[in-house]
Amino acid sequence: MIITLTANPCIDRTLRLDSELRRGQFQRATEVTDEAAGKGMNVATVLRDADEPVVAVVAFADPAYLNVGIATGAVEPLVTLVRPGLRVRTNITLTEPDGTTTKINEPGPRLDADEVALATDGLVHIVRQHKAEWVVLSGSLPPGAPVDWYVQIVRALRPTGCQTVVDASEQALSAVVDALASTPVGLLKPNLDELAQALGVAASDLQDAVDRGELDTVVAGARSLQERGVAEVLVTLGGAGAVLVTGEGAWHAEAPNIRVLSTVGAGDAAVAGYLLATRRGLGPAERLAYAVAYGSVAAATPRSALGKPSSDDLRAVQARRLD
Ligand SMILES: Nc1ncnc2c1ncn2[C@@H]1O[C@H](COP(=O)(O)OP(=O)(O)OP(=O)(O)O)[C@@H](O)[C@H]1O
Ligand SMILES: [Mg+2]
Repeated sequence: MIITLTANPCIDRTLRLDSELRRGQFQRATEVTDEAAGKGMNVATVLRDADEPVVAVVAFADPAYLNVGIATGAVEPLVTLVRPGLRVRTNITLTEPDGTTTKINEPGPRLDADEVALATDGLVHIVRQHKAEWVVLSGSLPPGAPVDWYVQIVRALRPTGCQTVVDASEQALSAVVDALASTPVGLLKPNLDELAQALGVAASDLQDAVDRGELDTVVAGARSLQERGVAEVLVTLGGAGAVLVTGEGAWHAEAPNIRVLSTVGAGDAAVAGYLLATRRGLGPAERLAYAVAYGSVAAATPRSALGKPSSDDLRAVQARRLD
């Protein structure tokens, strides 16, 4: 069983406008779509669609979020940790006929210290109840949560024996990286910007090296994190595929040539692919290939849908050993 935590859920509302956005004027939306969003929800959806047992956990939810989740076929069970009543934020995307998009994000509710503690305990309880082997901690933290909340959660989960995946950025990621010596994690999934952040180097330097086809810097960076206390580091490189560094070696898989339709959630699909391969007992090269195949199918799938690779899609991605 895999459990995903969405720490800071939101409703993604997309309003399609019938004409160019005009400030200060009345305008009609021709279409409105709502989604119960969150990075953990994305991972859970891909796993569910691949028939892998998964429980999607959200730190908090309100009736609107749950209703949208039910209406759009979100993963069940969808478990809420903190009492209902905290209003889930709505993030609005306005799309114009020429494809221009404007995003307006709400701040989201503030959790107090008791709610944070309740959520941590609740997650540990669910992990025990389901005897989960993997827990995925994804995305930004809600206002009010301590920046090291993921570190606290990883520590609280330690007695359950489950493995943890962290896919975070900014302060939440730095806190996890700073604590690795005392609080190791099973899998870290940075993209190139996040790897740069974790290493304290300029993202442009890493990007330039990758653009030249030189992966040594990325591998060395991922290895330094791995040695500090991560079993496996999966660095996704967008259109350049992904690199995997474990205690046994390093691998790279190129992304297939695709027509990119929406990269939203591609990283989440890559995490799901990686976990699926792990659950199927596959080795590191195949785990990496699954991550890239799932990520790339998501990037080739329109809007926020994440798709599912066919067996040909899976065969098309091959990882090669780097050292
Ligand atoms: N342009 C692209 N062409 C082919 N595959 C892509 C492209 N962009 C992303 N992917 C696939 O998706 C995977 C994850 O992409 P990326 O590194 O952009 O993740 P991310 O930045 O974490 O995304 P997210 O927005 O979900 O957090 C890549 O490893 C690759 O397999
Ligand atoms: Mg990501």
